[in-house]
Amino acid sequence: MSDTPPAVSFDPARGLAVLATPRSRYALRIGADGSPRHLYWGAPEGFTELPAPHSPADSSFESEAAADELAPQSGARFGPAGLQVQFADGVRGAQWRFTGHTASGGELRIGLADRHYPLSATLCYRVHPGSDVIERWTELTHTGGPEDGPIGVDRLDSAAWTAPRLADPRLSHLVGGWNSEFQLRRDRLPVAETVLTSRRGITSHHAGPWLALDDGTATEEHGEVWSTALAWSGSWRITVHRDPVGRTTWTGGSGHEGLRRILRPGETLDTPVFAGLYSPAGFGAASRGWHDHIRARVLPEPDRDRPVLYNSWEATGFEVDQAAQCRLADLAAGLGAELFVLDDGWFGARTGDHAGLGDWTPRPAAFPHGLRPLADHVHGLGMAFGLWVEPEMVNRDSDLYRTHPDWVLHAPTRDATELRNQLMLDLGRPEVEAWVHNTLDGLVTDNAVDWLKWDANRPFTEAGRVGDPDPDRLWTDHTRAVYRIMDRLRADHPGLRIEACAGGGGRVDLGILARTDQAWTSDNTDPVDRIGIQHGFSQLFPAQTMAAWVTDSPNPATGRATPLRFRFHVAMAGALGLGGDLTRWSAEELTEAAELVARYQQIRPLIQRGHQHRLAGPGGVTAVHHAAHDGSEHAVLAWRPTTRFGHAGAPLPLPALDGDARYRDLDTGQEYSGAALRHHGLDLRLPAGDHASRLIRLTRVPRADGGATTPGAATAPGGCS
Ligand code: GLA
Repeated sequence: MSDTPPAVSFDPARGLAVLATPRSRYALRIGADGSPRHLYWGAPEGFTELPAPHSPADSSFESEAAADELAPQSGARFGPAGLQVQFADGVRGAQWRFTGHTASGGELRIGLADRHYPLSATLCYRVHPGSDVIERWTELTHTGGPEDGPIGVDRLDSAAWTAPRLADPRLSHLVGGWNSEFQLRRDRLPVAETVLTSRRGITSHHAGPWLALDDGTATEEHGEVWSTALAWSGSWRITVHRDPVGRTTWTGGSGHEGLRRILRPGETLDTPVFAGLYSPAGFGAASRGWHDHIRARVLPEPDRDRPVLYNSWEATGFEVDQAAQCRLADLAAGLGAELFVLDDGWFGARTGDHAGLGDWTPRPAAFPHGLRPLADHVHGLGMAFGLWVEPEMVNRDSDLYRTHPDWVLHAPTRDATELRNQLMLDLGRPEVEAWVHNTLDGLVTDNAVDWLKWDANRPFTEAGRVGDPDPDRLWTDHTRAVYRIMDRLRADHPGLRIEACAGGGGRVDLGILARTDQAWTSDNTDPVDRIGIQHGFSQLFPAQTMAAWVTDSPNPATGRATPLRFRFHVAMAGALGLGGDLTRWSAEELTEAAELVARYQQIRPLIQRGHQHRLAGPGGVTAVHHAAHDGSEHAVLAWRPTTRFGHAGAPLPLPALDGDARYRDLDTGQEYSGAALRHHGLDLRLPAGDHASRLIRLTRVPRADGGATTPGAATAPGGCS
C-alpha cells in the first residue's frame, strides 16, 4: 500500500468511503438501512480497526447506532434531524436507498433516493491537496411530476459532523453583538441539544457559524480539535447534540426553525458548504489551517496587499462635504494611507440616519459637482478612492421608498419594524436585484470608485411574500442576490475591491469572504476591547481580512484614553486603517502616526500572509506572532492593557521559532538563540504603565554554510542563553 492514500476512495463491496487529508482521515459507510453513517474523523493513526456500523433498525442498543451523515427524520432516531421533509400526503421523513457514488478529483458524491417518494439527495464531500479542510454540502431534488405535489422542506442542513467519543467535550464558539463582536466562549457542553443560530437574515451578530470541539484539555499548541465553519451569510442554525451515551454530533446549515421551503417537481435545492477541519495540534494549528484554507480557496485575491485605508466615519459622521473630505484626504495621504473611504452621509437627503437611504446620488449641498472632484483629488494624492454604500436598505423618507414602497421586506398585514429608521429591500425580487446592481455599477463607473464598503445595518423582520406559494425562499434568495451582485461587480470592474460590513462585524463568514477582500470587524475601535474581539475573529479568519482602525482618544464608544502607539500596535495586527479626526491630531501625533504606518507597511506581508500564532504571556500580556511561511521573518505584537504592581513582565516564549536557528532583532541588532526564545522567551521590555505595547521584528540569521543560521556570536534575550 502506498503511504499516501487517494484523497477520496469508495469501496463498493463494503459501502465504505474514505477521505484522506495530510493530517486526518474521514470515513463513512452506507448503513444496512441505506443511510450513510459516520465511521471516523480524526488522526490517520487512529483509523485502523473499524467497527462495523449498526443502523438503528438492526441494533437493539441505541448507543450502538452510528451517527448519520445527515439524519433523515425516520427510524429510531431521536436526535436533531438535519433533513426534515413532508410529502404531499402528510408523511414526514426520508427512508433512503443508496443509488451510487462518484469519487474523483477530490470530490465524493453519495447518491440516495427515497424508497417510496420522489425525493433524491446527494451528499457531497470535497478535499483539496495539502489541506485538512473537508467541504460538505447537500443537494435535494424532487424527482416526481405534478401528480406528486410539492414537498415541504422544513430543514435542509449541509452536513452533520461527529466527533469521537470524548469524556467531557468542550464547545468553543463565538458570541457577541454590535460593538462586542467575536467574543470567544469555551463552554462545557451539556448533555443536551445546544443550538447556535442567527434568525436575523445576516450572519454574525449574536453568534457566528463556527465552532470547535475538544476534550476540554486542548490549548493553543496541543490537543485534538474538531472545528467547522458554514459558508453562508444569511440565517443559519447548528444544533450540537451531546447524547447521554457520550456521542457528540452537530448538524448545521442555512435557515432557522419555522421556515419552510417548497420543493416543486423537478426542482433542486442545494446548500451552502459546511466545512470541517481536524487538527491534532491545538487551537492555534486549527486556526492556521482555516487561515490557509481561506487564502487558498475562499478569498478572491489573497495575495494582494490590503491597503492602509483612511475612513472618515468617526471623524465627520454624517457631516460630510467636499472641502472637509479633501482636507482629511490630504492629511491621510501625508500619513501614508493608500485608500481614502468616504463613509455615510454623501447621498440623497442623508444628513442623519432618518432619511436618504436608497437615493444614491450625491447630496448637492455637500458635493455640488458630484463625487468626481473628490475622487480625482484622492487619486491625485496617490490613493485609491472608496465609497460607503448600504444597498440592501431604504429609509421611509427617501425617493426610493416613495416610488417603490412594495420593494421592502414586509407583510402588508403586519407593522414593519424599523431599525435605525430603515427597512430592508427584498433582493429576492429580480427587479430589486437588477436595480441594486445597476445603481452600484453606475456609481463605480461614474466616480472611478476603487473600493466599496458594503454595509447592512439591520436584520430582517416581518419578512413575507403574501400569496407566494414558496414565501420563505426570500431568506435564501436575498443572500444569493447579494452574492450575485458582488460577483458581477467584481467581474465587470476587475480593479474593484469590496469591504464587507454589517453594523460592524455583523456579516462575516466564508460566504461573504468569497467575494470581498476584508470585513469591518466591529464599530468598537477601543484597542483594549479590540484585543478580545480580534482574538475571537482570528479563530477562523486570517488577519488580512480583519479591518482594524486607529481612531481618536478617548475612544468614542468607551471613553477610554489610550496612547497612539498602543492603538496602532493593536490595529497593526490586522488590515490597518486610520479612522480618527486627523484635523485634531497634533503635529507630534501626525509624525508618530506616519512612522507607525511605515512600520506596518514593512511588516504587512507577514501580518497579511504569514502564519499567525496567538500568545498569552504572563502578567496580562497578550501577543500575536506572525511568521513568514519559510520561517525567515517574524513580527511580534505584544500588548499589556493594565499594569499590575509595577513589576517588569516575564519573558514571552515564542514556541513557533526554530530551536536550531538564531534570530536578529531588526531594530536593535541584538541576536538571540532560537532555543532560548522558544523556551525562555523574549524580554519584551514593555514601557511602564497601562496600555503598554511593542512591535518586535526578528529575522533568521543566515548560516555561514549557506543555511539559515550563523552559529555563535549571539546573546540571549534578557541575559538568557
Ligand atoms: C455602520 C458601520 C460604520 C459606519 C456606519 C455609517 O455602523 O459599521 O462603520 O459605516 O454604519 O452609518
